Amino acid sequence: MRMVDLIEKKRDGHELTKEEIRFVVDGYTKGDIPDYQVSAFAMAIFFQDMSTNERAELTMAMVESGDQIDLSAIEGIKVDKHSTGGVGDKTTIALAPLVAAVGVPVAKMSGRGLGHTGGTIDKLEAIPGFSVEIDTNQFTKLVNNNKLAVVGQTGNLTPADKKLYALRDVTATVNSIPLIASSIMSKKIASGADAIVLDVKTGSGAFMKELDQSKELAEAMVAIGKSLGRDTMAIISDMNQPLGRTIGNSLEVREAIDMLRGEGPEDLRELCLTLGSQMVYLAKKAPSIEKARTMLVDVIANGRALETLKVFIESQNGDASIVDSPEKLPTANYQIEVKAKESGSVSSIVADKMGTAAMLLGAGRATKDSTIDLAVGIVLNKKMGDPVELGDSLVTIHANQQDVQHVVEMISSAYSISKSTVEKPTLIYDEIY
Ligand code: URA
Repeated sequence: MRMVDLIEKKRDGHELTKEEIRFVVDGYTKGDIPDYQVSAFAMAIFFQDMSTNERAELTMAMVESGDQIDLSAIEGIKVDKHSTGGVGDKTTIALAPLVAAVGVPVAKMSGRGLGHTGGTIDKLEAIPGFSVEIDTNQFTKLVNNNKLAVVGQTGNLTPADKKLYALRDVTATVNSIPLIASSIMSKKIASGADAIVLDVKTGSGAFMKELDQSKELAEAMVAIGKSLGRDTMAIISDMNQPLGRTIGNSLEVREAIDMLRGEGPEDLRELCLTLGSQMVYLAKKAPSIEKARTMLVDVIANGRALETLKVFIESQNGDASIVDSPEKLPTANYQIEVKAKESGSVSSIVADKMGTAAMLLGAGRATKDSTIDLAVGIVLNKKMGDPVELGDSLVTIHANQQDVQHVVEMISSAYSISKSTVEKPTLIYDEIY
């Protein structure tokens, strides 16, 4: 087989076979096929798309390019959740103990990553003592006993995706549905999930800004999951404003705890109940989505969800007393209010700008080696649709530096206030099966 022939075949819109896709992925991973040929190949896919079969074959070839996590020692159906990412997305921290509390085994492998705040692991490390450095035996034991454990990413998962994603980043080929869908699904499948619930974000703060693009991506991922034998569904949720009321590691942990206590913002609770009921149903712990939702509402009301969080924290060496005393989480030295300059209703909060503001405070990493400040961040006192009076606090900045004028300006420019009343945005747009 010659790479140039496969580029030509895809360029001309023909379907590639399993063997041809393997040839490209294996050859590229080993270094036998150069970047320039794979760049041309990715661009051909960008313009010519891939069939459902090709997408599934590309996903599997990337899964098999590296290690795969074996979760078979864990009892029950392991359901993983993946979000395409957004600002203030602390869902995993609340959702994992929530579904574990009704008996769904959650064996989560998480990362740190770059972004407006740290990843799930960074957020969890805001809890004093909490450790994700656990070995496979202990991980399995914890999930079997407590239904929940989170471990840092280990092993060499999907090296083909790592290499291809880096190449796409510099060849204008990131924004291709077949390439995004196979990239995300390869990582989920290599992590050992039996079933997958996807949270595809849509809106100004999301990877996919338009609803029809988000749906197309969700449909592509669900089709790949199903054709590879994983029960998969997706919801499309809003990211036109940050999720919940906090952005920043320690602040987000606190908000997740509030949610499990039955408090906290309505959008976070609703998103967790929507995703959670799908997870419980796919794990076959409930006969219907409606029943699954009732079970989740019950464990919030009777304290089982909060208790599961405490056991989870303790079993990974964290200080579980933060659940009842969240003031023990890292706190910033200064709190600065950003006030409304006019009265009306909040008509938009540009999520990206709010994320950048949190990052400027030190809540996120700009490069792999940056350190993050777990204490700093932003609390949104007003969200879209809320009425405001001149001088009301829109946002409280939690900072470890006194001069945050640049952050205040960024936040002020993210908020728009309208004289007319504004409807609250839709949170869940669609469900894709
Ligand atoms: N996230 C991924 O993991 N892969 C993509 O291709 C795009 C977003």
